[in-house]
Amino acid sequence: MVEDARVLEALKTVMDPELGRSVVDLGMIRDVKIQGNNVEFTLALTTLACPLKDRISAEAETTVKALDGVDSVTVHLGEMSQDEKQKAFGMQTGEKPLAETLNDIHHVVAVMSGKGGVGKSLVAGLLAVALRRKGLRVGVLDADITGPSIPKMFFTKIARPQGAPVGIIPPQTSTGIKVMSINLILSSEDDAVIWRGPLVSGAIKQFWSEVFWGDLDYLIVDLPPGTSDASLTVMQSMPLSGVVLVTSPQNLAGMVVRKAAQMAEQLNIPILGLVENMSYFVAPDTGARYDVFGPSHAESVARKVGTEFLGRLPIDPRLAVWSDEGHIEESSVEAFDPIVEKLLKVMPEGKCKPVFK
Ligand SMILES: Nc1ncnc2c1ncn2[C@@H]1O[C@H](COP(=O)(O)OP(=O)(O)OP(=O)(O)O)[C@@H](O)[C@H]1O
Ligand SMILES: [Mg+2]
Repeated sequence: MVEDARVLEALKTVMDPELGRSVVDLGMIRDVKIQGNNVEFTLALTTLACPLKDRISAEAETTVKALDGVDSVTVHLGEMSQDEKQKAFGMQTGEKPLAETLNDIHHVVAVMSGKGGVGKSLVAGLLAVALRRKGLRVGVLDADITGPSIPKMFFTKIARPQGAPVGIIPPQTSTGIKVMSINLILSSEDDAVIWRGPLVSGAIKQFWSEVFWGDLDYLIVDLPPGTSDASLTVMQSMPLSGVVLVTSPQNLAGMVVRKAAQMAEQLNIPILGLVENMSYFVAPDTGARYDVFGPSHAESVARKVGTEFLGRLPIDPRLAVWSDEGHIEESSVEAFDPIVEKLLKVMPEGKCKPVFK
């Protein structure tokens, strides 16, 4: 004899792939009717336009059919009402967009410097790659609209975000890093130039609240240079675990990094550490090491801003190729390994925003 409970128990193994949760937990199964060896139920989706509806429905049918004592299964497709969606997603969230409610992001780390061109985007990219290689779930939010550094680093051809009922679905890189950038939406690289502050801030907030990031261990945010509106928006509207500062060996870079540090401090955001990029060059033929920009000041800058010195990265022409031609995920940068290990040690525990579970 088949019972409702057994049917529901079996259906708990059927996931909505987009939401990453079982159709039972999402409240999508209703009107279970059992007559003899025949089972009938309704599968209510977030929308009937769901591109995965046939797949979910077929899986639900096969799963129930596999139960002892079941001969035939009829699945009716339905749609959840707005109210039901609110209830199902456990929302006491007022006007929060659905994506923000469903996202479960443990750490948000912004990469910042006072100065342009010191390698923020490169450090953000390397960090995402290193964390992904550890098997973690990683996203990159590009908050710098002035250049397509992030898309260029991760994609060899343009990848577009998709619209879905739960929000904007970010494209994924070949190793599964989710990436969102204004530059993935614009039709031409030059379009962003005319964007003004409020428009940029609006887009960044949308990237936080309307992009369906799903469950992430780390969301890495690449900031534009300096202490602009975009940086302020990120720091004020996202629950940052902290910022990583990037500098280069010139004196001036040290001075401007202190400005960036001041901004983080004023907004009560922890400074996780400082990375010095383009510190030295190792001649590939002789192995001799050259301090191209003179001796490093990074340790003393770190001390002055009261943060951990995470380490140095060399000037390496291969890095420019990997990062500018879509191959950052194939990079191997020995000097970056200790930087990541140190950073993970100083990462604050816990979650930015526990939801749903
Ligand atoms: N250590 C390095 N060795 C070789 N090339 C590097 C290194 N670091 C950065 N580059 C190259 O320098 C350029 C600038 O780096 P990147 O875009 O990461 O800097 P940024 O600080 O993000 O710049 P912006 O302020 O414009 O956002 C890129 O072409 C990058 O590939
Ligand atoms: Mg950059």
